[in-house]
Amino acid sequence: MQKFLIEGGIPLKGQVQISGAKNAAIKMVAASLLTSDEVVLENIPRIDDVGVIVEIVENLGVKTEFLDEHTLGLRADEVFSSEVPHSLGVKSRSSVITIGPLLARFGEVTIPEPGGCRIGLRPIDRHLMVLEKLGAVVSHKGGVYKISVPRLKGAEINFDKNTVMGTENAILASVLAEGETVITNAAEEPEVDDLIVLLVKMGARIKRDESESRRIVVEGVRELAGARHRILPDRNEAVTFAVAAAATRGDVTLTDVRPLDLTAFLAKLEKMGVGFDIQKQTLRVWLEEGTALEPVDVESVPHPGFMTDWIQPFCILLAQANGVSLAHETIFENRFSFVDELLKAGAKIEVLTPSEAGIAFDPGRYGFEWLEGDREPKVLARVHGPTSLFGSRLAIPDLRAGATLILAALAAEGQSETSGVEHIDRGYENFDEKLRNLGAKIERAELE
Ligand code: EPU
Repeated sequence: MQKFLIEGGIPLKGQVQISGAKNAAIKMVAASLLTSDEVVLENIPRIDDVGVIVEIVENLGVKTEFLDEHTLGLRADEVFSSEVPHSLGVKSRSSVITIGPLLARFGEVTIPEPGGCRIGLRPIDRHLMVLEKLGAVVSHKGGVYKISVPRLKGAEINFDKNTVMGTENAILASVLAEGETVITNAAEEPEVDDLIVLLVKMGARIKRDESESRRIVVEGVRELAGARHRILPDRNEAVTFAVAAAATRGDVTLTDVRPLDLTAFLAKLEKMGVGFDIQKQTLRVWLEEGTALEPVDVESVPHPGFMTDWIQPFCILLAQANGVSLAHETIFENRFSFVDELLKAGAKIEVLTPSEAGIAFDPGRYGFEWLEGDREPKVLARVHGPTSLFGSRLAIPDLRAGATLILAALAAEGQSETSGVEHIDRGYENFDEKLRNLGAKIERAELE
């Protein structure tokens, strides 16, 4: 186990290359199960969550080879198992994305209840609904799902609430199904569309409705072929570095980004008074010494809105604004567990239920399931700024919260120690090295 030692208060300056998107790479590795030909993925991020999904497909019989540091070849021509090993399935929630392709190609899958970040309950009922609609039979015993079907049959699938991986599983399962599948209220995150681009290159027939973007039609085909694809850049990593630049009053140019995918984030930066400039695929973000940041309210919603993964890092900027801001998380019920840690570093943040914040609680507004009788969730952070953060000992509870605590340590005066580095390594490629290249003082050390 490792920790980071961080000496804060240094404005970050320079250029950083954004890696390929974790949340696209994982699904594309799983998509390779759909064909016996080779699928080549470029711009693969070298992170632990990708390592886990690669290990899962290898355990099923997929041959994998890194053709260079960021190019992965996968060939599923001799798959001998459709059982996701327990030890790997519980490591990451993303293991659930193998269900669609395994069922589509082999008609059966055995998978343990998935694990993942502790940001909420995160059930998989929406995935199971999809599979049952497509004709699969699901049994659940002793923490293990067994799902089977002779051949999936196209169906009409409607999601009551947005689900990114649920939509992706619906697409992955239906590309080889018999007939047409129509998915309504489908997620429209850029990572979903990048997966569609790869699948279409493989020969799938998938169309997102031009006039109704949350409607996707999949025409099942008999088989798919290999393809080569460059994975889109990671929006979450981009936001993390953009916040790092502003929160340390630095000046950082992010290369290999798709600024259009960051529109909702950039709109909030603008309101706060953070400087930025877009040139094709680069984004420069800076904050001049002496600039007073304006407080803003943010609410996470599905794409094209402000993304749930940005809510936590954004709190570090809000803590430096001149006044009170409200951050409202509507996708997961437990995004603010890291705030207790942030308080240790001098932040002044109250975590509230909607009623406590004076907002009528409407369960329909939230992405997670809420049952009558459950307590109102603490989904709001009222952030009082400006605060001077100071160095402290911080324990990282999950991936985005971890990045947030590191941002806090970088913005703080003095030395901080953050334990729980393994959460960062799950989702950020060479995070500490990239920060060091921008002038940050951050070192890894073994936990005593
Ligand atoms: N949900 C259910 N039942 C389901 C599926 C989802 O109740 O069957 C709930 C979830 O618990 C959550 C909400 O619905 O409250 C939305 O979940 P969604 O299915 O959209 O999330 P996901 O697909 O599991 C992906 C990303 C997350 C990102 C969300 C944004 C991957 C591997 N993960 O999760 O990324 O925050 O979409 O909706 O693609 C991360 O990168 O750290 C991360 C958590």
